[in-house]
Amino acid sequence: MSLSPWKTKKTFICITTLVIVCMLYIKYCDNTDNTANESLHLKDIKGRNDIIKHDLEETAFKINNLKEKIKILESRMPKHYPEVRFLNYVHKKRILITGGAGFVGSHLVDRLMLQGHEVIVVDNFFTGRKLNVEQWIGHMNFELIHHDIINPLYIEVDEIYHLASPASPPHYMKNPVKTIKTNTLGTINILGLARRLGARVLIASTSEVYGDPDIHPQPETYWGHVNPIGPRACYDEGKRISETLAYAYAKQENMSIRVARIFNTYGPRMHMNDGRVVSNFILQALQNDVITVYGSGEQTRSFQFISDLVDGLILLMNSNYTLPVNLGNPIEHTINEFATIIKELVGGRSTIQHVTEVEDDPQRRRPDITRAKTVLNWEPKVPLNEGLQKTVDYFKKELKQFNYSQRSKISVENP
Ligand SMILES: NC(=O)c1ccc[n+]([C@@H]2O[C@H](COP(=O)([O-])OP(=O)(O)OC[C@H]3O[C@@H](n4cnc5c(N)ncnc54)[C@H](O)[C@@H]3O)[C@@H](O)[C@H]2O)c1
Repeated sequence: MSLSPWKTKKTFICITTLVIVCMLYIKYCDNTDNTANESLHLKDIKGRNDIIKHDLEETAFKINNLKEKIKILESRMPKHYPEVRFLNYVHKKRILITGGAGFVGSHLVDRLMLQGHEVIVVDNFFTGRKLNVEQWIGHMNFELIHHDIINPLYIEVDEIYHLASPASPPHYMKNPVKTIKTNTLGTINILGLARRLGARVLIASTSEVYGDPDIHPQPETYWGHVNPIGPRACYDEGKRISETLAYAYAKQENMSIRVARIFNTYGPRMHMNDGRVVSNFILQALQNDVITVYGSGEQTRSFQFISDLVDGLILLMNSNYTLPVNLGNPIEHTINEFATIIKELVGGRSTIQHVTEVEDDPQRRRPDITRAKTVLNWEPKVPLNEGLQKTVDYFKKELKQFNYSQRSKISVENP
């Protein structure tokens, strides 16, 4: 039986429609599968991320726990100290160093400890840090006391190196009144302690007592040229009154005092952010920054390396000489020369730029060390390049360890 053409056409349309519907359905099912697969896949990734995150948190927690355990174990392990000389009770002294956690103080601590003495450091950690004397913490000959010397101190010692005072312009200008208190009340407290004990005291004075000198080089007999109300006065006049107090006590109380007029000193452990020439220039050169010179750069400075200063301080303390003694390096350089020497030593891409000069910046500074040569047989030995290299190495290490940022830098001048 044959179908009519109309029926055939109808059947054909039905079948075609059915096929199209089937195809659309299959496609729809396919798409639904894909979307479902994708969302499954995303869920899977999220799940895995959560697991990784959780694992990382757990690992960080475990690492912290391990760190704590290592700390506890380390604290139980006997610490290795540098080998110190044995001194019998006749030669061994108990020595107090105020400001012993600072730059100069910590090097003095090292030397006196190695010589076999008992050393007590008193510091308020304003500019000093425990890290500077960390190598001795726990040693039977060493003690570290957190104390501010503007308060009285009761302690038994044979000798006192009185170094406590901020030393760089940004630090001493930060709180001028406190700087004056440290150098007046603090010095009175230390001299009072020494009087009670019959102990010898060495006062760390400074070349700043000469101010902006009008004679050159400066001998100890020069009385100085200080602006009593300028921005540096808190330190300059503070140190001058410190000296006055020392001689007043010596005369009135028959005490044994020594006064070191320290000139610019540099070396490892100096403050990286003290705004002084050496630290500024090294830091700028190491970070490929512009090396900034205040003013024309023709003002001069002379720098001694820290080990030379420590030799001088100990020789002075052990001498019989009671008048002030200059301790510094008489080799004078202009600030421009320093900038060039440091730039060459460090290498890098820094350029040197001159900026406006600062108020009361001394134009010339150089010690006359005839007295130190005559009475102490002392003069600086470390050449500038050798000392600077050691300082640059120290700065490099510090930069790596503490991720030092230019933002934390205090910049004032070329002291
Ligand atoms: N470094 C130099 O070029 C230089 C030059 C001239 C004189 N000096 C003198 O040498 C001494 C040491 O200088 P530095 O370069 O080691 O400086 P520094 O800042 O590194 O050390 C001074 C120390 O004294 C401590 N200190 C400050 N005020 C104190 C207070 N009220 N009580 C207890 N501790 C206090 C600080 O925390 C720091 O540890 C200072 O008296 C300074 O005036 C240093």
